[in-house]
Amino acid sequence: MNATDNTPVSIAELARAFKPDFQWGAATSAAQIEGAALTDGKADSIWDRFCRETGRINDGSNIDVACDHYHRYKDDVALMKGMGLDAYRFSFAWPRLQPLGRGAWNEAGFDFYDRLIDELLAAGIKPHATLYHWDLPAALHDEFGGWASRQIVPLFADYAAEVARRFGDRLASLSTLNEPWCVATLGYETAQFAPGLTSRAVAAQVSHHLMMAHGAAIQAMRPLTKTPLGVVLNHTPAFPAQATEADRRAARIDDGLNVRWYMDPIFRGQYPADVIEHLGEDAPVIEPQDLALIQQPLDFLGVNFYTRSFISTRLPAVPAPGKQGFTDMGWEIYPKALTQHLVRITREYSPPPIYITENGMANADTVIDGRVTDHERIAYLREHLRALASAIDLGADVRGYFYWSLLDNFEWNSGYTKRFGLFHVDFATQQRLAKDSANWYREFIAAHHDLK
Ligand code: NOJ
Repeated sequence: MNATDNTPVSIAELARAFKPDFQWGAATSAAQIEGAALTDGKADSIWDRFCRETGRINDGSNIDVACDHYHRYKDDVALMKGMGLDAYRFSFAWPRLQPLGRGAWNEAGFDFYDRLIDELLAAGIKPHATLYHWDLPAALHDEFGGWASRQIVPLFADYAAEVARRFGDRLASLSTLNEPWCVATLGYETAQFAPGLTSRAVAAQVSHHLMMAHGAAIQAMRPLTKTPLGVVLNHTPAFPAQATEADRRAARIDDGLNVRWYMDPIFRGQYPADVIEHLGEDAPVIEPQDLALIQQPLDFLGVNFYTRSFISTRLPAVPAPGKQGFTDMGWEIYPKALTQHLVRITREYSPPPIYITENGMANADTVIDGRVTDHERIAYLREHLRALASAIDLGADVRGYFYWSLLDNFEWNSGYTKRFGLFHVDFATQQRLAKDSANWYREFIAAHHDLK
């Protein structure tokens, strides 16, 4: 199957491109859907705080209620079951389980995830969990600067160990971090994300502490659970806009900062030398044993893929061609990069089995006569599944795919203005409505199940 041609492909034909045990899922994260911000003992995360600062969130919204999933999780699991999902990816809110990020555990928090996991298992849906999807306990930021300090490393490992002890026997997988590049760069360098700082040097140091925390967490969890352990990275492959030396070099550095800066220490035990050189005085302080700690054996790699970056050094910049359009985030739709990238990382890193832990699009969806006709999302989904099938065909070992997201939700600094869901959410009434894409995905999954 060739992802670059435009020949129509039937659902049944596409389904046949994936092995019978391939897992189909959807993904969410705690801060984006749960709400119940201060309910049952949960304390503030840096995102609860960030939302209260003027001008940080485009629509001035917050995550006090979000999709109210904390109270509606049973209905949401029923939606997943109705779609025939094999798997669901969610995250634990650290400040719900351990409000201050150290010390006392909050039993009401554990009880919530206990009930969620049981509900998923009863529905025949495999729970794939992430420990850190950006909601750092605010107390740790106040105490010592959160990720900016090495002090966070053992605390994150303690949190990971407790989660592994409590839930390890019922989870289908456990990931340490979601998208460390976003945490470090958008949170500490460009200030788009919490905690909203603007220092490249701090961001680089944060990225190193994230990597160390990942390694320490894997090490701590390993003896406590048999569940597969991994990490989720965001990969946005960089393409030079023009065949000039300057664009090529800039694309190589972009790739270095986004892909190699995280893949190299995890899979090769070293940071890329060209990126260290590029960072110059802003490069992080690395102590002798740090890289050995980071390079822990992993059972899987989670890849979040949305788009490519089109790197131009010319002024004005050469715009991305966007032959297949752009999403409501302004991101170019370019599925071919998914194929190329999976083949490339397979060749360069020999990674463990891969899951596409996120892929999806924001679309300007509207409900008309009780229906959301999001044909753009159906095309995005179908073309990315074709691109994924091509990658598998070319040797990438991919075991599952999670659409981002199950529900329209809080899209970080964009607030509720960007809709990624398979289900439309009316935030005034909390009513969920299956978009046409949810029905397409349900039919596709059913066709794949028919192969068994
Ligand atoms: C990646 C993040 O993990 C997720 O939280 C976010 O909503 C999506 N990308 C879309 O931007």
